[in-house]
Amino acid sequence: MCLELSITSVYLVCRLGSCSSTARIGGACNSSLRMAEVVAGQTITIGSRRIPWFGGFRLTTGRLLFPEWVNRVKPLAGAGLAGIPAYLVFLLYFGGSPTTTDVGYSPKQPIPFSHEQHAGQMGLDCRYCHTTVETAAFAAVPPTSVCMNCHRTIGEGVNELQPLLQSDESGDPIRWVRVHDLPDYVYFDHSAHVSRGVSCVSCHGRIDHMEQVYQAERLSMAWCLECHRDPAPRLRSSEFVTDLTWIANEDPRALGRRLMKDHGISPSTDCSTCHR
Ligand code: HEC
Ligand code: HEC
Ligand code: HEC
Ligand code: HEC
Ligand code: HEC
Repeated sequence: MCLELSITSVYLVCRLGSCSSTARIGGACNSSLRMAEVVAGQTITIGSRRIPWFGGFRLTTGRLLFPEWVNRVKPLAGAGLAGIPAYLVFLLYFGGSPTTTDVGYSPKQPIPFSHEQHAGQMGLDCRYCHTTVETAAFAAVPPTSVCMNCHRTIGEGVNELQPLLQSDESGDPIRWVRVHDLPDYVYFDHSAHVSRGVSCVSCHGRIDHMEQVYQAERLSMAWCLECHRDPAPRLRSSEFVTDLTWIANEDPRALGRRLMKDHGISPSTDCSTCHR
């Protein structure tokens, strides 16, 4: 495991392990050094982004050592460390909005579009609508015209389809509500995954069973890294990426290892891969 930072309550928890990458915290932490020192006023560097860090503590592998200033604020501890507003600012800023951390988040959409019906029962391929998913970072959500390929004739007079017809007439796009949304400081790229044989199902679950889309996975940093460290069991030949029912007819890990070797697949765990 490499350096991992997470914020629980009012503490920053930093775990260090065998780092394949170089992480810098105030310049004092890297792959060979299994100890980090974060002192007040310094910054944490993630890729090109510098995050100010207002607290201060020292930690060694497996053990959290509080700095001297903790002794000074101890009398105040009853009132709570929450008295240090900087921690809270940091916490609110990076603590993850419900839309990115809540498994099960499922906002109501302007039209009750069902993946279960269209992708499941009718068997439409994901790429029919999400046309850029193999070639771009962003997986395009289809414009009204794609729906109208069929709904110009199908479902005439159906109430639920009225907003679609209105959008077609006026040219105003339908305002679909985002379900998955990583914080802005995280870089994600669909094509990098889909074209290397990571299926939609690994990250979005059984969309073809969903009446209304919900977030199936945590999408936390630890979750991303879990696969980046050991992608083999979750790889397949890229022609099957949108087949959510596909199962390997051999040991998935053996297949994955072969694919990694043949295609030179080796996901990076460098901070700058996802924080640039
Ligand atoms: C007929 C068009 C169509 C097909 C086929 C389709 N989708 Fe969608 N998809 C949509 C539309 C429209 C939305 C936005 C509304 C919603 O979230 O339900 C959407 C939303 C999504 C979202 C959520 C996006 C967000 O806001 O975070 C995911 C994930 C998704 N689709 C995955 C898939 C997968 C995987 C497949 C193939 C199994 C698929 N879709 C097939 C039209 C389609
Ligand atoms: C390949 C053809 C096709 C495409 C593309 C398509 N649909 Fe459908 N849709 C259907 C069919 C077929 C039904 C089922 C109609 C029925 O059961 O009477 C349906 C049903 C629906 C329904 C349920 C209402 C009803 O008539 O039962 C909604 C809502 C809907 N579609 C919205 C959309 C939206 C929004 C899009 C674009 C993102 C879209 N559809 C794209 C073929 C399509
Ligand atoms: C490795 C994980 C992963 C895979 C594989 C994956 N997605 Fe996503 N998807 C995500 C994440 C994470 C987001 C949120 C991205 C963001 O907020 O920047 C997302 C967002 C989306 C969106 C909303 C638009 C966007 O790009 O933000 C759609 C639509 C979508 N995915 C469809 C698909 C389809 C279809 C497939 C399979 C062909 C697929 N995804 C494969 C992780 C994945
Ligand atoms: C199920 C496995 C899996 C998950 C989950 C996953 N990834 Fe990946 N990721 C991969 C693989 C495989 C590659 C391709 C590595 C290669 O090409 O050598 C990759 C590559 C990438 C790249 C490299 C793109 C480039 O241009 O080099 C980025 C960025 C990335 N992932 C971000 C993320 C983020 C952010 C998350 C979590 C939201 C995530 N990944 C979750 C497997 C995964
Ligand atoms: C594979 C992609 C990926 C890599 C590599 C990665 N991160 Fe992250 N990181 C994320 C994602 C995704 C989030 C957002 C998590 C959330 O929304 O809950 C995140 C969030 C964070 C946060 C905000 C605090 C938190 O836990 O929410 C910090 C700080 C951070 N990363 C530091 C790092 C450092 C330092 C490294 C290098 C050791 C690193 N990251 C490598 C994907 C990655």
